[in-house]
Amino acid sequence: MKVLVFLTLFIAATTAHYLPSDFKESYQVTPTKGQPWPMPQEFAAKSSFFTLRPDVFKFSYGGKCDVILEAIKRYQKLMFLDDCSKNTNDVDLSGSIGEMTELSISIDGPCEKYPYMYMDEQYLLEVNTPDYANKSLLYSVSVWGALRGMETFSQLVYSLKPGLFAINTSIAMDFPRFPFRGLLLDTSRHFIPVPLLLQNLDAMAQTKLNVFHWHIVDDQSFPYVSKKFPNLSQKGAFNPNTHTYSQADIAEVIEYARLRGIRVLVEFDSPGHTLSWGKAEPDIMTDCYTGNVPNGKYGPLDPTVDATYLFLKVFLEEIAQVFPDNYLHLGGDEVSFDCWASNPAIQDFMRSHGFGNKYALLEQYYMQQLLDIVKGLNKSYIVWQEVYDNGVKIKPDTVVHVWKDGYEAELANVTASGFNAILSSCWYLNYINYGDDWTTFYKCDPHSFNGTTNQKNLVLGGEACMWGEYVDGSNVITRTWPRAAAVAERLWSSAALVDSKDAASRLEELRCNMIKRGLKVEPVNGPGFCSCDYVQ
Ligand SMILES: *[C@@H]1O[C@H](CO)[C@@H](O)[C@H](O)[C@H]1NC(C)=O
Ligand SMILES: *[C@@H]1O[C@H](CO)[C@@H](O)[C@H](O)[C@H]1NC(C)=O
Ligand SMILES: *[C@@H]1O[C@H](CO)[C@@H](O)[C@H](O)[C@H]1NC(C)=O
Ligand SMILES: *[C@@H]1O[C@H](CO)[C@@H](O)[C@H](O)[C@H]1NC(C)=O
Ligand SMILES: *[C@@H]1O[C@H](CO)[C@@H](O)[C@H](O)[C@H]1NC(C)=O
Ligand SMILES: *[C@@H]1O[C@H](CO)[C@@H](O)[C@H](O)[C@H]1NC(C)=O
Repeated sequence: MKVLVFLTLFIAATTAHYLPSDFKESYQVTPTKGQPWPMPQEFAAKSSFFTLRPDVFKFSYGGKCDVILEAIKRYQKLMFLDDCSKNTNDVDLSGSIGEMTELSISIDGPCEKYPYMYMDEQYLLEVNTPDYANKSLLYSVSVWGALRGMETFSQLVYSLKPGLFAINTSIAMDFPRFPFRGLLLDTSRHFIPVPLLLQNLDAMAQTKLNVFHWHIVDDQSFPYVSKKFPNLSQKGAFNPNTHTYSQADIAEVIEYARLRGIRVLVEFDSPGHTLSWGKAEPDIMTDCYTGNVPNGKYGPLDPTVDATYLFLKVFLEEIAQVFPDNYLHLGGDEVSFDCWASNPAIQDFMRSHGFGNKYALLEQYYMQQLLDIVKGLNKSYIVWQEVYDNGVKIKPDTVVHVWKDGYEAELANVTASGFNAILSSCWYLNYINYGDDWTTFYKCDPHSFNGTTNQKNLVLGGEACMWGEYVDGSNVITRTWPRAAAVAERLWSSAALVDSKDAASRLEELRCNMIKRGLKVEPVNGPGFCSCDYVQ
């Protein structure tokens, strides 16, 4: 990137991070106007501004990349959403220094098709800087950086009155602090319809999150319609006609995400969390016993029979081909050993392999076979922390997903062993509390553990999780947003940005902008209002 002279906005981090105890009564958070979320690494704005008119303004881009051409169409609309005030009075234009008619987009790199781990997301955005007077320029190395910059540009634009908008003189030099910035949705405990998955991707793009972790199946239901094993959803979905994701649905989600620079990381969790698989594939399940007789219940997958691995090989070959991302999430959490221990055939297997009664060794045996299968698929993988904790041999590029309490010690251990890690422990958004709980998410930092610089560098980022026990199409957007935005800023912006009181007004503006864009997102800062509230 070229060297620039610019004003650096120093974000004061000197005040306390806690809200005053009389916060609710005394303090109402007013949204900022034209301030970005997440905050760019370097950002400065002046009070001189340009007007913009939707019918005059255009993006100038000489390339042909579909990712950018589609984004131009989207942002031409998203930039110019009226603020619903119905204010037709004259506005004070005395501070205006002209009309901004164009954003010129310049991208160095090729038209990459799919977003990926370690993709380049940096960009430079100049609105009327000394070397680019009266003009706007977006420069990036990659198409993904250009997407992030267009989002920022759209957030700098604010409404003056219906049909008239403004943007201040400003500069952003920006890149993410972490390459992996995810959000998990669980479509097994409750089904989430495709249109809401797409809305969620819109909100992720707005906050620069770049990994949709799709926890697609679990014990409760199997909505994925497999090409090779259609019975899995036919028998395992809540309703095979209405509560499933067809191959076309999945392709639509992946394409929608791709155009927004978001990876779709699918998870097929095993050997636990698989009860719904057993409805179609009883041969791969462990029968649980009471005394010497099967009690009709299933436990985890049966790690001792060939049928299990034959099934997994064919099934995962399909998954590797349906989901283009280089990574698969293989799960591996919360394997209950009781059912395994009750089953006489498994006890025999334990004896003949010299495992004693250490069922962690049996789990290790299973994971080893699974990882051998995945090795043939040319994919890297992510596993929940138990796989590491139980001593399974994992490839050096495995990412360990830390989710349990005591994450500081776990991150220290995982990275000391040389593995990459991502953090979710402090970002379980499905736990809800009265009050401004986003400030708790905002405070949590993936580097808050004792370790060397090398260890810190092994932390790739983190992921907000919205588990589905109490979430479905009726509330997934409302409950997830804008709370997940707190995680998004923590993972994108500078580590020095820690003052949640200072961030509150910007978050309020983000929420109001989400409402303008058609997302029903909940209030998170106590009393207040947005100009485009649901007043009718
Ligand atoms: C943008 O300009 C307006 C009008 O001059 C000013 O009130 C506002 O504070 C400026 N915003 C920023 C982020 O500097
Ligand atoms: C930018 O616009 C201002 C106000 O219209 C004008 O005075 C100035 O000459 C312009 N600068 C350039 C480089 O065009
Ligand atoms: C699916 O289930 C039906 C009904 O039980 C069975 O007849 C059929 O063989 C199964 N198909 C496959 C591919 O397993
Ligand atoms: C394996 O994956 C890498 C990275 O996605 C890709 O460049 C390569 O072509 C793939 N190899 C095969 C044999 O599919
Ligand atoms: C980390 O490793 C140490 C030494 O190997 C061990 O004593 C400790 O229990 C581990 N902590 C966690 C959270 O796994
Ligand atoms: C880091 O180490 C110091 C000194 O041993 C200890 O006081 C502190 O609690 C540790 N911090 C974390 C996050 O583990």
